[in-house]
Amino acid sequence: MNRKYERMDNMNISYVKESDFKDYDGVIFPVYEDSLGMAHETLAIPFSPLKEKELFEGKKGQVHHITSMGEASFRDIVLIGLGKAEEVTGHILRNAIADGFKTLKAKKVSTMGVFLDEVSDGLTCSYAIARNSVEAIVMADYAFDTYKTKEKKTYLEDVTLVFDGVDDEFEAAFTEGKIIAEANLLTRELVNEPANKMYPEVLANRVVELGQSKGFEVEIFDRQAIEEMGMQAYMAVAKASSEAPKFIVMRYKGSEIEKTLGLVGKGLTYDSGGLSIKPTSGMVAMKSDMGGAAAVIGAMSAIAENKLDVNVVAVVAACENMIAGNSYKPGDIIGSMGGKNIFIGNTDAEGRLTLIDAMHYIVTKENVDAVVDIATLTGAAIHCLGHVATVAISNEDSFYNMVDSSFNKAGEKIWRMPIFDEYKELIKHEDADLTNTAGSPGTITAGMFIGEFNGDLPWVHLDIAGSSWTSKAKHYTSKGGTGVGARSLYYLAKNYGKENA
Ligand code: BES
Ligand code: ZN
Ligand code: ZN
Repeated sequence: MNRKYERMDNMNISYVKESDFKDYDGVIFPVYEDSLGMAHETLAIPFSPLKEKELFEGKKGQVHHITSMGEASFRDIVLIGLGKAEEVTGHILRNAIADGFKTLKAKKVSTMGVFLDEVSDGLTCSYAIARNSVEAIVMADYAFDTYKTKEKKTYLEDVTLVFDGVDDEFEAAFTEGKIIAEANLLTRELVNEPANKMYPEVLANRVVELGQSKGFEVEIFDRQAIEEMGMQAYMAVAKASSEAPKFIVMRYKGSEIEKTLGLVGKGLTYDSGGLSIKPTSGMVAMKSDMGGAAAVIGAMSAIAENKLDVNVVAVVAACENMIAGNSYKPGDIIGSMGGKNIFIGNTDAEGRLTLIDAMHYIVTKENVDAVVDIATLTGAAIHCLGHVATVAISNEDSFYNMVDSSFNKAGEKIWRMPIFDEYKELIKHEDADLTNTAGSPGTITAGMFIGEFNGDLPWVHLDIAGSSWTSKAKHYTSKGGTGVGARSLYYLAKNYGKENA
């Protein structure tokens, strides 16, 4: 497997104070709507003609490129609009910088300066300025082109954030932002790798390497160990594949506190649907059915690299849902590690089967105190919120609120659905304890099925079937995997450590 995101290293990103700035081939200037009309100090460009012709008014989302032919020290200038100063947020800045970065990179500049002093007229906190700027640039500089044999010539070598208010907060946010943005790219890359290159063994080996390089412990359970632990539901899904399943456990101990956060990621490196086979159109993107696993792996990497004061355990029941003579079948009744029997209504509802054994394992064997599962679980999640937001359900308000604010901090949208008593009947079956096909509302009942195995701990279920994938590159996202969850779960771990300190 190729490691595209690591090749980021050929673009160096750093920061200087405004007084130390050098000449750059191209510069990015953030501009507020209200500040227009006067000549910019550093640029000496009068904005009013641009405003009169409605070419650039500093509005949110506007990007304007100027090539300077004269004596000016910058060849390419990109103005980015931040909207009204009193309404600016970190998310607006992040999107604007990403747009400006892509525009300027396309002009084939080698060195780029991003002038941030103007930003503080609206966004006053240097932590937010640094974090959102570095995140935008690192995340915007990615495209999945690993398998394009014709190498694209790269011109961009150096990006410098230029800001007079560089202080300890700025420096810390710069380091943190860079690490979590890279974790987002790692997550995207794991999702984008096709299933013939990224199968359970490859994923497990990659996690072992990441554990060594970032600083977390990894344990891999093979087929025999998985069977010995009694993970019958996971094995029912995994057994028809000629690729061996790998149960991946990641442990990070960064704190003396008693509490441990648990993360469970759906790790179907491919989902054909099994005997309830998907049509080809539904199958082509199913390399992405390990988006939850990729998110927890990305989060663990950033948590360990930033040495957070928290304890986190993450697990992934990696396997493929395939077809063979020994496939599990619609109509089967299978067991599970937690002891409950499950009626199989549809072999394409496989994710929840792997997740309940992973969930039972983490709550009974790893002593976690709260648990989040994250999964590309249901097509219905796309009907709920499109590709825009993650669908959540939870059994506990205060833990949910912590997850919610962590997603907000990362700028990843999340929406909580209810668990009404009426739905509880839907996951039961007359011949077995539970059924894997509970029906509408499918996203909620799928999550509730997993909730049966949470050991009554504070729990949040995240369905990222929509939010983990996009068919269009926008701002700092690229086509394919969005890397959703990696940064949000990082912030969750950070908050969880602080809350329990
Ligand atoms: N991996 C799919 C869900 C999915 C669909 C993710 C589209 C991303 C995009 C999951 O395993 C699945 O197939 N779910 C079924 C469940 C149904 C059979 C109860 C679904 O959503 O149709
Ligand atoms: Zn499926
Ligand atoms: Zn699936």
